[in-house]
Amino acid sequence: MNRREVGKTLLAGLLALGAAGRGQTPAPAPVRIAEPGQLPEVWADLEFRFAGQPCLLVRVPPPSQPSPRVLEAQGVFLTAFSRVCPHAGCTVPLPDQQRFIECGCHGSRFQADGLRVAGPAPTDLLAIRLELREGAVWAVGWLDA
Ligand code: FES
Repeated sequence: MNRREVGKTLLAGLLALGAAGRGQTPAPAPVRIAEPGQLPEVWADLEFRFAGQPCLLVRVPPPSQPSPRVLEAQGVFLTAFSRVCPHAGCTVPLPDQQRFIECGCHGSRFQADGLRVAGPAPTDLLAIRLELREGAVWAVGWLDA
């Protein structure tokens, strides 16, 4: 490692420490999830992991208005979210036949697109920022963070 590389490594470490010191976590590494065509119909879903968490990619109907939670990719509308319940951290199951997700721990209920219907969870399931890169959908960060 030359002096320039040592400097870059030290700088990256200091930036990470600074973020941690401010109560922020470093951005998770981007994850390639799938190509849009792998979800052939609306409400099809695909499990993946992001930042160490179980997550779900869901094909949704076109939104009535633009939403930061929804990515349009090649004519397909997609949303993704963590399956960690924002109430107490249980992993929520996959959507049921009625397109609801009901947390098995204390009964919080979410729509199949991750939006909260009923508590005790105080928020929606944590949304993931999606990007289309070279024909594939990538998870690149948390939307609400
Ligand atoms: S952990 Fe999901 S409702 Fe409590």
